[in-house]
Amino acid sequence: MSQPAPPALDVEHVSAAYGPYRALFDVSFTVPAGGAVALLGANGAGKSTVARVVSGLLPTTSGAIRLDGRDVTGLPAYKIARAGMAHVPEGRGILANLTVEENLTLAFRQRGGRHRVPDALERAYRAFPVLGERRRQRGGTLSGGQQRLLSLAKVIVVPPRLLVADELSLGLAPVAIEAVYEGLEQINRAGTALLVVEQHVNRVPELVDQAVVLEHGSVVFAGAAGDAVRSMAQGLGRRGASTPTR
Ligand SMILES: Nc1ncnc2c1ncn2[C@@H]1O[C@H](COP(=O)(O)OP(=O)(O)OP(=O)(O)O)[C@@H](O)[C@H]1O
Ligand SMILES: [Mg+2]
Repeated sequence: MSQPAPPALDVEHVSAAYGPYRALFDVSFTVPAGGAVALLGANGAGKSTVARVVSGLLPTTSGAIRLDGRDVTGLPAYKIARAGMAHVPEGRGILANLTVEENLTLAFRQRGGRHRVPDALERAYRAFPVLGERRRQRGGTLSGGQQRLLSLAKVIVVPPRLLVADELSLGLAPVAIEAVYEGLEQINRAGTALLVVEQHVNRVPELVDQAVVLEHGSVVFAGAAGDAVRSMAQGLGRRGASTPTR
């Protein structure tokens, strides 16, 4: 019998800090190969910090991170990206003064090399027709939802093993959120595992079956996405209005 595939992402007892401020405390969870996991929690819970730590933008103070079974703890972000992790950060992550096509071309050249650009552009426009229609429009003048699609389309050149998407739905109307989630679903169907950061449990896309809930930098729930609703409701009851002190 063949060995089961290692998880796409394995976060093991990870802690992290911003200078003296400790932001993550012994965080552990996995994203199965090709699977989709939601990372939930209130403002300031540490979701973006997890996204930064796993993609190498913030060092761990302890613990280990494995991508497809390979230890990537302490590697610089560009090496983790090269090993197959894509991180779509909070905010829009696109260049406002460049056109859609210039944004894509730049990203595709960096990740795939010049020769892959034409094919990748074609695939991006097939996957996200609205970007094809607007290829000459400046990134900064796209709608919020279109900007999120553009930041997703940038990963298409070399499908990553894992995509970490940080609050792609933030500030979008329901119909735009739907489009962004459809984009995520396409990427997932092509074999990329997803870690989808969301604040609200009712925003978790259908493609996600597992959820991890963070509170004050610690995992308070990991399991079926449906059960996360209950866990978060309890968490809200416990949480005070002040910033945590530890
Ligand atoms: N660069 C930084 N320097 C110091 N503290 C930081 C920094 N970035 C984040 N923090 C703190 O770390 C904690 C976790 O922040 P993080 O951005 O991970 O939260 P989040 O769950 O993504 O919240 P949101 O839903 O608001 O995006 C917060 O208390 C925040 O103030
Ligand atoms: Mg955040």
